[in-house]
Amino acid sequence: TALETFVRGLPKAELHMHIEGSLEPELMFELAARNGVTLPFKTVDEIRAAYAFSNLQDFLDIYYQGAGVLLTAADFKDLALAYFRRLAADGGTHAEIFFDPQTHTDRGVAFETVIDGLVQGMEEAERTLGVTSKLILCFLRHLDEASAFATLEQAKPHLSRIAGVGLDSSEVGHPPAKFARVMQAARDLGLKVVAHAGEEGPPAYVWEAVDILAVDRIDHGNRALEDDCLTARLVQDGTTLTVCPLSNLKLCGVSDLKEHPLKRMLKLGLKATVNSDDPAYFGGYLLENYVQTAEAVGLTRDELVTLAKNSFTGSFLEEAEKTERV
Ligand code: HPA
Ligand code: ZN
Repeated sequence: TALETFVRGLPKAELHMHIEGSLEPELMFELAARNGVTLPFKTVDEIRAAYAFSNLQDFLDIYYQGAGVLLTAADFKDLALAYFRRLAADGGTHAEIFFDPQTHTDRGVAFETVIDGLVQGMEEAERTLGVTSKLILCFLRHLDEASAFATLEQAKPHLSRIAGVGLDSSEVGHPPAKFARVMQAARDLGLKVVAHAGEEGPPAYVWEAVDILAVDRIDHGNRALEDDCLTARLVQDGTTLTVCPLSNLKLCGVSDLKEHPLKRMLKLGLKATVNSDDPAYFGGYLLENYVQTAEAVGLTRDELVTLAKNSFTGSFLEEAEKTERV
């Protein structure tokens, strides 16, 4: 369609994408066979049929299970490269990807294996596709502070490859304040700080991310709109929100894409961006998120350009690069 062609032609960065969430069922089977791992599914169709979620936890349970096929550096490299190919096909030119080391180290996969494989994929993507990328290490918020600190310790030899830290996994019951000290320690190491907040959690969690963690971006942030004072604060600070429309639909944060707050966010003056979150699980990569949302809520061409520009101004690229690459 004309809309698709227009959006594909806009240079875009993706700022909210969990690399483990880009594991397509086909690659999951391939890696399971390669590594001698048994999956509880027999066919690709059976896996896709299981991807009917009613909330975040529903999804996380199956997402952590899927990640169990990732064992070697080659697996992580293949995973990353497959994602970068999809991004390039969508007209994406830069990505800041999340990875969840604890999901792997808790199964006996070394931190080095994960990061070495991902970095190999990133370097090959830059060489062969011209797509640049950065890594954001996410702490699993359902685990404790000590585990996050242990993970930060493992990251120390690799800080030149890591742009920032984030918080993901089960939000409700695990407020940002739980990780205040480890996030400060990460900042002291020169890392950027982001956090999922306001996906399912209340506005109070977004306030904590802003006031206690002093985040550089908010991941999701949808529920911030329930609090006018908080919304005004995010507008005033120019805080980038990494919004994930198809994820919100699949995890039932909105009942219909037509109800999605993305257009409202832009009208309020929030620095919203469009992202895919876990594209293999939520049924759409970056371009699909732009196009389906644009059709559902009626985004203008100007608004689409603004979203694409916000993805670079909200990125962790050097200031000069942000303006050169839009
Ligand atoms: N929210 C929280 N944790 C996650 C998500 C998400 O959308 N995707 C992968 N881990
Ligand atoms: Zn996410």
